[in-house]
Amino acid sequence: MFTLIDLPYKSLTPVISDETLSFHHGKHLQTYVDNLNKLIVGTEFEKMSLEEIVVSSSLPAPTGNPAVFNNAGQILNHNLYFSQFAPTPHPGLDPGSLLSKQIVKQWGSVDAFKADFESKGTTLFGSGWVWLSANPDGTLVITQETNASNPITRVMPGQTGHLRPLLTFDVWEHAYYLDYQNRRAAHLQALWGIVNWNEIEARYTK
Ligand SMILES: [Fe+2]
Repeated sequence: MFTLIDLPYKSLTPVISDETLSFHHGKHLQTYVDNLNKLIVGTEFEKMSLEEIVVSSSLPAPTGNPAVFNNAGQILNHNLYFSQFAPTPHPGLDPGSLLSKQIVKQWGSVDAFKADFESKGTTLFGSGWVWLSANPDGTLVITQETNASNPITRVMPGQTGHLRPLLTFDVWEHAYYLDYQNRRAAHLQALWGIVNWNEIEARYTK
């Protein structure tokens, strides 16, 4: 049985309102948890970890299962999303960290990386997620994932294993519409103010 994760903070205002946080975590994520628990009863997925369910259910039939994938993917996506934030003020990205050095190596500057990430979030058509992930060799990749997809299902060309998701912005309208209406770009820009870079760095170096 999967359970709703606890939030590691009480509030993320003014970047995300308490109302949005309450609906997003307490209603949307709770529904995905309840649905997945019902769907996996008596199936081969019952004994798997959440990550194993996402990868396994994403495969073609007969192993794959779109309904299981949609709900498991959304739980994994939201667990990583909600646990990556911290209320302001908090330290930003440490310029001496391995993650910062890799970002600068690939994008030239942290600001250029943020602009690329925001742009890929803004231009994602419909519902989905923009992700920063790491390849097995430590190089970083930004991907656009539609609906419930997660980069953990992808192996990039020339790589020996799956991407490891590090950071994500949720571009489903339920993530921002109460606070920002149609202004997705403004919402994405504001999210940088609550990213807990210590958590993202820990995911990268794990
Ligand atoms: Fe969401």
